[in-house]
Amino acid sequence: MTRTKIGIIGGSGLYEIEGLEGAEWISVDSPWGAPSDALLSGTLDGVEMVFLPRHGRGHVHSPTTVPYRANIDALKRVGVTDVFSVSACGSFREEMAPGDFVIVDQFIDRTVAREKSFFGTGCTAHVALAHPTCARLSDAAETAARGAGITTHRGGTYLAMEGPQFSTLAESKLYREVWGCDVIGMTNMPEAKLAREAELCYASVAMVTDYDSWHPDHGEVDVSEVIKTLLGNADKARNMVAALPGLLGAERAICPHGCDRALDTAIMTAPEK
Ligand code: ADE
Repeated sequence: MTRTKIGIIGGSGLYEIEGLEGAEWISVDSPWGAPSDALLSGTLDGVEMVFLPRHGRGHVHSPTTVPYRANIDALKRVGVTDVFSVSACGSFREEMAPGDFVIVDQFIDRTVAREKSFFGTGCTAHVALAHPTCARLSDAAETAARGAGITTHRGGTYLAMEGPQFSTLAESKLYREVWGCDVIGMTNMPEAKLAREAELCYASVAMVTDYDSWHPDHGEVDVSEVIKTLLGNADKARNMVAALPGLLGAERAICPHGCDRALDTAIMTAPEK
């Protein structure tokens, strides 16, 4: 058994959690550069937690310039074991409506301008990624979201696009009708890949803010609408996050799905003699 330490990567507002004991902002250095921001560290229900504002306070990083490797490395360095990603997304499904949450379980990575691995120079590793999210953490996220009164969909394929522009109508239709994606966003990749390389359990909670551009009854994506939906959901999202420590507990067994041992069978490079 080890101790659970939860890492939450998400937007501003999420970390204003009542009852977070000993809360303090800590700066963490990483050889992969500076993380998006300092980490807010504290204890809730006897479980250690840290919050990392993905875009930095004030939203200074675009989806392309978020320092994904430094962020995951910083979480690992402070001892995080379990990562919950909370992010906004567009929906390709009528039934996944703005305001709903989707516990994503698959990704198609269409990002093109980001560093996607900790490996490559001096040490090569190929981690398995068929199941890129942790079912144990996804169970907790689903229970917490439903408990917070949020309409929650379990499972869904997330198209990770580069952005920062939203999709064209042709792209939106391709992802929805041909590729069978459920939601679209700009941040979960390479985050999920790097979490696996860092042997961190990772779950993704995607908060639907719009219908992208495919829906005949809805216009183009409008950032002011996205922000309005996010702000309208802020209390529920915070309540969801606040329920996670109680659901996971302070004592942590090894991950039944092996996320925390992903490198055991992945490294190609021979050890130095
Ligand atoms: N984030 C929120 N809505 C989005 C959309 N429609 N496409 C990409 N990222 C998003």
